[in-house]
Amino acid sequence: MSSKFNNMTIYLGSDHAGFELKEKIKEFLADEGYDLEDIGPYRYDREDDYPDYALKVCRKVLMGGKGILICGTGQGMDVVANKIPGIRAAVCWNEITAMNAGKHLDTNVLTIGGRVTEPDLAKRMIKIWLDSPLTIEERNARRIDKIKEIEREYLSDK
Ligand code: RB5
Repeated sequence: MSSKFNNMTIYLGSDHAGFELKEKIKEFLADEGYDLEDIGPYRYDREDDYPDYALKVCRKVLMGGKGILICGTGQGMDVVANKIPGIRAAVCWNEITAMNAGKHLDTNVLTIGGRVTEPDLAKRMIKIWLDSPLTIEERNARRIDKIKEIEREYLSDK
């Protein structure tokens, strides 16, 4: 399928608390013509754990593309994703935070709370995020460079 976003693939993952919203978002993105890959879970299982799916999606994103991770609040997924060098993730709960995640933070992963976000809002946030590339302003680039520097510093401390 041709992608609207320079052949970029969007990787989707959730835990049980985000499963229902993930399924709706999957349908929405497919209807919109995006290339996407569902990394799982493929059925509701209340014993699954968000770190497992965060890791699976982030490993894909490190090779290119973007990720959307959905747990109950978006917070667990966000914490895990931001542990992975090269991933910049932001939890979003409205249009402004979705735009900021793209324009100012240049995130490659968006996290959403399936228990606290209406599906229509989630769809709007995702569209805004995907349509809000980093604003090329010196101050935004400078701040992202500082984030990368912190990442490098702590990696080299290992
Ligand atoms: C799972 O019950 C729930 O804790 C998880 O989905 C998430 O909300 C964590 O932040």
